[in-house]
Amino acid sequence: MITLFQAVIILQLHYFSEMLIILLLAIPFVAAQQVNVTIFTESQCPYCTKLLREQIWPFYVTRPGIMNLQIVAFGKGNCDYDYNRNFHCKCMHGPTECDLNRLQNCAMSYFPRRHLGLVTCIQGLKTLREAFGKCLSRLSPRTQQKLIECSTTQTGELLSYYSMVNTHRAGVRIWPTMYVNGVFFDRNYPVETKICENTDWC
Ligand SMILES: *[C@@H]1O[C@H](CO)[C@@H](O)[C@H](O)[C@H]1NC(C)=O
Repeated sequence: MITLFQAVIILQLHYFSEMLIILLLAIPFVAAQQVNVTIFTESQCPYCTKLLREQIWPFYVTRPGIMNLQIVAFGKGNCDYDYNRNFHCKCMHGPTECDLNRLQNCAMSYFPRRHLGLVTCIQGLKTLREAFGKCLSRLSPRTQQKLIECSTTQTGELLSYYSMVNTHRAGVRIWPTMYVNGVFFDRNYPVETKICENTDWC
């Protein structure tokens, strides 16, 4: 004779094992749907600005969750360090580009998951001051202060240095350079088409 209590337990176990099967089926399926997108950018290169503003940002907004996005913000240039281990970077379009690269790297470091809006906003601007005014104003005063400090000190320069190492290691020669699931992406091709080829979520 099964008591009511036992019946409830059996039902719950049954329910639980079904949930488990559903979960086990769903996990590999879900993982196969996200698309890895890696973009090497440079803060003042016009094609990088076009790619981020006109393709990546709109795609991110209209099709959230599809891209597993990694941005490497440095470009053509070099960093070295002096005897005090202070880093000094030089950037293709000059010191302002290094300033903006630093701010983008700081934004990514402070917001590991949600930084695309900030990075896109900073991209292509003319001065660091313009970036502070235009892109940081909606953040809390404390966060603004942290990002300003990071982007004007060695903290940001060191983050830029890491991005330089990543860029050099990948052997990137033109900017933007983009990889979709590890495959080089031709920038003349629409991003949406390319990413959607790799997922059923579109
Ligand atoms: C995406 O990136 C993750 C982690 O970097 C990796 O494990 C996975 O194999 C990549 N997926 C594809 C389809 O390249």
